[in-house]
Amino acid sequence: MKKLLYLITLIFTTVTLSTGQPPMGQSQANQAPDIIIAAGTLNTDLVYKVNGRDGRLYQSYLGAKLANKEVLSQLRDAGHLAYATFGTDNLFEPAIRMTHNDGNPSLELKYVSHNTEKPDANVTITHILLKDPEYPVEVTLNIKTYMAEDVIEQWIEIVQKEAKPLTIFNYASSMLHFDASRYWLTQFHGDWAEEMKMQENELTSGIKILDTKLGTRAHMYQTPVFFLSLNEKSDENKGELIAGTLGWSGNFQFLFEVDEKNSLRVISGINPFASEYTMLPGKPFKTPSFIFTYSNQGKGLASRNLHHWATNYGILDGTKSRLTILNNWEATGFNFDEPKLTAILDDTKKMGLDVFLLDDGWFANKYPRNNDRAGLGDWQENKAKLPNGIGYLVKEADSKGVKFGIWIEPEMVNPKSELYENHPDWILKLPNRPEHYYRNQLVLDLTNPKVQEFVYNVVDGMLTTNPGIAFIKWDCNRMMTNAYSVYLKDKQSHLYIDYVNSLYGVLDKLRQKYPHLPIMLCSGGGGRVDYGALRYFTEFWASDNTDPVERVYIQWGYSYFFPAISVCNHVTSWGKQSLKFRTDVAMMGKMGFDIEVEKMTENELKFSQNAVTNYKRLSDVIWHGDLYRLISPYDENRAVLMYVNSSKNKAVLFSYTLNSRYGETFNRVRLQGLDPAKTYKIQEINVSNEGRRPGGPGGSDSGKSFTGDYLMKIGMTVGSASPLTSAVYEITE
Ligand code: DGJ
Repeated sequence: MKKLLYLITLIFTTVTLSTGQPPMGQSQANQAPDIIIAAGTLNTDLVYKVNGRDGRLYQSYLGAKLANKEVLSQLRDAGHLAYATFGTDNLFEPAIRMTHNDGNPSLELKYVSHNTEKPDANVTITHILLKDPEYPVEVTLNIKTYMAEDVIEQWIEIVQKEAKPLTIFNYASSMLHFDASRYWLTQFHGDWAEEMKMQENELTSGIKILDTKLGTRAHMYQTPVFFLSLNEKSDENKGELIAGTLGWSGNFQFLFEVDEKNSLRVISGINPFASEYTMLPGKPFKTPSFIFTYSNQGKGLASRNLHHWATNYGILDGTKSRLTILNNWEATGFNFDEPKLTAILDDTKKMGLDVFLLDDGWFANKYPRNNDRAGLGDWQENKAKLPNGIGYLVKEADSKGVKFGIWIEPEMVNPKSELYENHPDWILKLPNRPEHYYRNQLVLDLTNPKVQEFVYNVVDGMLTTNPGIAFIKWDCNRMMTNAYSVYLKDKQSHLYIDYVNSLYGVLDKLRQKYPHLPIMLCSGGGGRVDYGALRYFTEFWASDNTDPVERVYIQWGYSYFFPAISVCNHVTSWGKQSLKFRTDVAMMGKMGFDIEVEKMTENELKFSQNAVTNYKRLSDVIWHGDLYRLISPYDENRAVLMYVNSSKNKAVLFSYTLNSRYGETFNRVRLQGLDPAKTYKIQEINVSNEGRRPGGPGGSDSGKSFTGDYLMKIGMTVGSASPLTSAVYEITE
């Protein structure tokens, strides 16, 4: 039955119908038939219609899967142009704007043809070719559907065949239309150490824009993700919404325009700000992908859809496992030498962790990297700190049975460096203006092929000399100012786009040679988190703020769009909370440590070793299981969430009590995602009574067994009412 349903859905996914029906009130004479182009997933349909009357492409429908294809012919287009142009009759924000060779500032797009590709049973790509009837300009709308994950990816390719170059001013990846009574936008704003703060507001008439203009470290203030709830606010399990994100590591823009009829258009893509682009004849311009999922069962399902997509398609090696890390940034800063690092290698082993990750400060000699004011760009081992080089540490690590990883920030330079002295023309800086610094550094001009080669060689050279390096952390600590490239000459407005494409070019080349090397994406915390970059990276550093209370909110925010396997959380000394609380918070993602192990008491060491063992036993459920957010820290003084594996025989539940008022009690929590018919044993792990109020409810259901039905309808007691306490439960069939 399930198979039959799947087959029917498959046929229905990319159906093309010539309805032969003219729109209401139109004569049938001299009119081409309408064409319906439906792209869908298991539970969603996105339907376009070519109107036979004007030959234009309209969006007819986006929403829950339609039960039968006959209704497709009844759909009216409501005038929602699938990819609205500028200059003819469009009165609202366009998806595309260009000026032709002869100075004509308008574009008209008519349907030419469409076709589909089927790379595998789960994926379908529909290409719809549109063309200007008067000018040789073609625009292809690409729609890639992921059937099982219920995720849709959209991007555009533009080709112009005019005699000379022409300029494009707007070039969105996607344009979607909605007709709901009300619209609620959830955005995730922030700054350094306060990433992913969730805000929800109703959209009113006019335009609301979420964007960035920072170029590099582009997502420092705004992560390129949003929820759009239709008709009413959605919660975890109720409500109709889309969750959207752009796979682009530079300037992005999401534009929401509510018009006079209360229709909403959502335009997503590269931020066109200061980025008009000259297109050469015959050379295609390809946009990044807008990735979205539709849910009519709230944000929880939308997140799980995106997580499934991300692990299967969006993140490098998302279905595989990850290494646990001991990092030294919080523990030592720039202040270390070979004996200190050798001792940390021992600590890595003692803790039961896989990799020691050596952070910033290991390089540069003429201007040693002893603080963030010097040395960036000079990627030779600092002889005073590492007299025997990285090779020695790699060997030492190997002899102790752990792996070695290393930090780099290859896109940047300190003015106090040999790189700056030798290659002033490789750096983004404005003529006739003083240099503007951020963290005492400047951005290299990656649009220059020589700089691309330099960046590639920094990484490749290090890995060739030290093939034992098993992990890299790739940092990027500043945004772009001084945004002027000597290399780009009169094409300065190409900088923001060419920079990102050049970065992807370097990463492509590195990935050809090192397809599976784990690399952490970092940008002064979570300043560059998106699915354009995550194709090349196995994980990302979510924030420099590791205070666990702050972290609960930050990780909660990321969890809406990024799976736990990709979110690096380290146990550090930030915050005054117990080691248990810090550890339990780090465990809900990709756990690591960045702490002075030698200063731990015997009990703390034992607790941590035990937690690492627990984590390794449960990490597959956390990394690849389904996430259910049960109680939001935005709603209560606590946060509760759980992961359930696909066979529903193992789950892990995390409970964090952030605060509690006098006399406050916390009710039982109803679980989700379990099999009602199965019986589960609850076992509290990472047990430590640090900070617990005696007699609290914590752990009272631990050791007992309940059916899934009971746990999902009646619930279980979790955690303690004491502020800043936590509990982790292993739930096993
Ligand atoms: C910023 C990162 O977020 C930190 O984890 C650390 O690697 C520093 N850079 C090093 O400079």
